[in-house]
Amino acid sequence: MHIENRIPEIRAIGEEKKIILTGDRPTGKLHLGHYIGSLKNRVALQDQYDTFIIIADFQVLIDHLEDSHQVEANIREIVLDYLSVGIDPTKSTIFIQSALPQLTELTTYLSMLVTVARLRRNPTVKAEAQRVGVDSERDNIVYGFLGYPVSQAADILLFRAHCVPAGEDQRPHIEQTRELAERFNKLFGEVFPVPELLVSETPKLPGLSGEGKMSKSLGNAIYLSDPAAVVRQKVMSMYTDPTRKHAADPGHIEGNVVFTYLDAFDPDIHHVASLKEQYQAGSVGDVKLKKYLFEVLVRLLEPIQSRRTEFEQQPDYIRHVLRQGCIHAREVGEETMKLVRKAVQYDYPNLLISQ
Ligand code: TRP
Repeated sequence: MHIENRIPEIRAIGEEKKIILTGDRPTGKLHLGHYIGSLKNRVALQDQYDTFIIIADFQVLIDHLEDSHQVEANIREIVLDYLSVGIDPTKSTIFIQSALPQLTELTTYLSMLVTVARLRRNPTVKAEAQRVGVDSERDNIVYGFLGYPVSQAADILLFRAHCVPAGEDQRPHIEQTRELAERFNKLFGEVFPVPELLVSETPKLPGLSGEGKMSKSLGNAIYLSDPAAVVRQKVMSMYTDPTRKHAADPGHIEGNVVFTYLDAFDPDIHHVASLKEQYQAGSVGDVKLKKYLFEVLVRLLEPIQSRRTEFEQQPDYIRHVLRQGCIHAREVGEETMKLVRKAVQYDYPNLLISQ
């Protein structure tokens, strides 16, 4: 397969389209949960919206400070995943959080507009803190962890984004962003649109064992880059219906992970419906069902992986996409910061230096 590399040009600021900002922490390769929960949606939205995708490398330091040397490789992996699923760098600006000093500048202003008490109550921070054994309501949480929603608000507001496509778990952060935008606008004049969360319609994809959502840390994921043999072995190990002893027993669909995956990934809904009937009637066995799911997944992953292989051979192109993305994002960010500095009536250092 030949891929025509589309070189992103630095685009004009102020295009008419509405703006999306979304992103990920670069913690490694992306999996089917990311695909169904966000990537597929981003590919569909990038035609209608001016899209910005932030690779949140500062955010990843919250719990990976000691492995910061791995972040660079993870950034490359995530860009490869983005491009292989069809994110088009001429429509979506892919950039790195730490490459924009404007984000840090805006974070500083926003951090004056939120109380510590408000941050302590953020349910997502609370849950994430609990997972690593700290309590966001007490003093054993570090400042960067407690404060990262402010930095995430800056990610969104710096692009004056209208929509943030993200999972339900990001809702508290979007709420906080909306409050910050409203507070800033009230104090200094209208600079920021108040952004909306655009929740993906697909519910969370469960992991292979059916427990918890698909995630790297739980070791229950199928990665977009998993070779077919690995996908086969993972699918064959999947959880189905524990009450079913023999293939001829009537099976249950509810809570059956194989059917959850078929519903999520098989475009042939009629065939899935007929498989469900057969399964409930006890006329199709688990092995046959899993083999079918394996075929469905391979059909989805094959084109993604062949594009990935092509992109892997073009490290200069990946670098170029990121570099242009960072340059464009900085320009847009600087435009917003000009408005912010004007609104807060403080631009002395810049004026001093440019004299
Ligand atoms: N918190 C998001 C995650 O863990 C990543 C992220 C950083 C983000 N900044 C963002 C998402 C801004 C949406 C908008 O996946």
